Amino acid sequence: MARHVVDPTSMHRYTDETERVARAALGYARDRLRLHPVPLDGPRTAEELAELAGPTITEDGLGGEAAMRLFADVLAPAIISIDNPRFLAFIPAAPTELSMMFDLVVGASSIYAGTWMEASGAVYAENQALDWLARLAGLPEATAGCFVSGGTVGNLSALVAARHAHRAARHDGDERLRVACTDETHSSVATAAAVMDVGLLRIASDIRGRMTGEALAAAVEREGTAGLFAVAATAGTTNAGAIDDLDGIAAVCREHGLWMHVDGAYGGAALAAPSVRDRFAGIEHADSFIVDPHKWLFAPFDSCALLYRNPELARAAHTQQAGYLEHVQGSEQNPSDYAVHLSRRARGLPFWFSLAAHGTRAYSEAIEHTLDVAREAADEIRSRPYVELLNDPELTVLVLRRTGWGPADYTAWTERLLAEGIAFVTPTTFAGETVTRFAIVNPRTTRADVAAILDTMT
Ligand SMILES: Cc1ncc(COP(=O)(O)O)c(C=O)c1O
Repeated sequence: MARHVVDPTSMHRYTDETERVARAALGYARDRLRLHPVPLDGPRTAEELAELAGPTITEDGLGGEAAMRLFADVLAPAIISIDNPRFLAFIPAAPTELSMMFDLVVGASSIYAGTWMEASGAVYAENQALDWLARLAGLPEATAGCFVSGGTVGNLSALVAARHAHRAARHDGDERLRVACTDETHSSVATAAAVMDVGLLRIASDIRGRMTGEALAAAVEREGTAGLFAVAATAGTTNAGAIDDLDGIAAVCREHGLWMHVDGAYGGAALAAPSVRDRFAGIEHADSFIVDPHKWLFAPFDSCALLYRNPELARAAHTQQAGYLEHVQGSEQNPSDYAVHLSRRARGLPFWFSLAAHGTRAYSEAIEHTLDVAREAADEIRSRPYVELLNDPELTVLVLRRTGWGPADYTAWTERLLAEGIAFVTPTTFAGETVTRFAIVNPRTTRADVAAILDTMT
């Protein structure tokens, strides 16, 4: 039987068809960037998508233009637009137009950003963005790190470095290793502990959901420090936007020689906002710190900045050893040496590009603006008799109760708002009760958006 002859290099050449697909893909990207507001869209079932899209992986291929149409017409509408200004669930994202545009450039550039040798230009730029964040936190000049995929990998990598440093410095015998955190600490810390097979020392949080220095000191007094290798403090809890007592925690860490990790995945962005900067006092003592540009620093997924006060300790924990890697080892600037990864996308570059283009003042102003909108939204909630604000917002998360509603009411309301394309707001559990929360990180979210959502709760 005659073998179907294909040119094995055809997929890698820029042909007339490639040009047509380029126009379609870039045109789609441009149109998406221009949309305001982007439609919220929403999920479809797998059966619905199977019916609408059909099988997409075929022996002969659909052709680039048809695959692009399939994405635009069928798949994209089945993806919730997290950058819609009325997406207030979880922690939203609100990438700048330039950061999204530059993501296209990163994608088109085939960058292996694991080592300085292979990607010095990219790593140099990423490091500039990391330096800005380190200076905002008041961390020393020598601070270094890298960008990882998200807060989960950032927390894991920091805690792995902390454990390594602990083991190198101490011998705890058979004591089970533990990380101190609270019930309000992000779930990724418990996940990291499970991955690392270490335990958690749960510190009781105060009425605002914060870990205080006193509570940590009391727990250490009660339980001792054997096996305790790190404290995972939070600068902006996911559920209520609370900032732990970083100064008090830092004092306890210093007294007992504990590694202080600060998870600022969401809240760390507000270090750039003068109106709330003092709430982070003590962060300058952190041994490691994360903040996610894909949350409140206006970059696309996926991007978490991970910083270490003493980079050498991180490299000791994370540098992979292999004969074929020896040639690229030895640089203190290898991003692969700072986290649980080797190959990596230059995922800090979209953030860097937008920061470089707009300047840091624009970031401070945009973050301050969201803080203002959150304050106005809090007033809006307080002014309505049928809802109650349950937290005293430190940042931009507002937790609220609709008087008289139970869990089923919140769920039905969430589903209705999404189905009608009005907003995406989900229930949460706060102090044991099902309520809801608004998380505002998008500078284009307005008080009127919040009012419109509250109108649907009457
Ligand atoms: C405080 C905090 N830490 C960690 C994470 C996990 O981040 P990611 O989803 O990027 O892994 C989140 C996510 O919302 C968070 O809010």
